[in-house]
Amino acid sequence: MPCRIIAVANQKGGTGKTSTTLSLGVALARRQKRVLLVDADPQGDLTKSLGWADPDSLDVTLANHIQAAIDGNDPDPWAGILRHAEGVDLMPANIDLAGMEMAMFMAMSRERLLGTWASSLKEGYDYLFVDCPASLGIIPVNAFAAADGVLIPVSAEFLPASAMTDLLKSVERVRRQINPSLEVEGILVTLFDGRNNLAREVERTVRGQFGGTYRVFDTVVPRAVSAAESPASGTSIFSYDADGKAAEAFARLAEEVLRHG
Ligand SMILES: Nc1ncnc2c1ncn2[C@@H]1O[C@H](COP(=O)(O)OP(=O)(O)OP(=O)(O)O)[C@@H](O)[C@H]1O
Ligand SMILES: [Mg+2]
Repeated sequence: MPCRIIAVANQKGGTGKTSTTLSLGVALARRQKRVLLVDADPQGDLTKSLGWADPDSLDVTLANHIQAAIDGNDPDPWAGILRHAEGVDLMPANIDLAGMEMAMFMAMSRERLLGTWASSLKEGYDYLFVDCPASLGIIPVNAFAAADGVLIPVSAEFLPASAMTDLLKSVERVRRQINPSLEVEGILVTLFDGRNNLAREVERTVRGQFGGTYRVFDTVVPRAVSAAESPASGTSIFSYDADGKAAEAFARLAEEVLRHG
């Protein structure tokens, strides 16, 4: 199967991008898929959540490969890839990536730097997920330019507002101008608490407002204490609380993603 690149993005902070990248990635690895998770957030939350507690001490991170793409010379695109015990690979990130943004802006083909690196790894994986930072800056645009699909986690704790429209516009712009095969992989309602009226209203609104045009995943990710705790353990929800409702939701989400292709 050809590698599918999925950007996990929402410029709003705290919508579950990192936890979705990690949990969905591990869910697919448990289904025998070869998965690379790419931390594209200078905060390094994904790197930390997978157990590398001090990302700033890592020698090789995504920033090195972006720099190599700027220089037009990446002798070893595999350098720096870390192997996690739960079967996923990780390209980590740290604060060095924040320092790259200006250089990216100044570079030739500035939107294609991440894609240049990612395309040389495609033969090794079935899925490559890019955990984007909470912005619509040059890094998410690079992820959209490289991706086949954009997966958008939306928090059930806030009514989706103009931020969603801006995000979808940005995806559409990249599709028109840079990457015609880009799709919205799906919109995912996260941090859902069924006892909460607002959460139910958010789900209804997302399905009503976007379900006609885009895929909204049937799966909704529940708010769960174990899901909030697992990042500090360096393991996925499948190790931390295998029988819990969050693990069950991500296993179902993996089924939905697999059904796509
Ligand atoms: N299903 C869940 N139940 C409870 N807490 C969760 C769940 N998913 C994520 N969280 C917690 O909510 C917070 C935000 O989640 P996460 O870091 O995945 O979002 P994010 O969109 O990546 O944030 P940022 O925009 O800062 O990158 C984290 O503290 C995380 O541990
Ligand atoms: Mg994050």
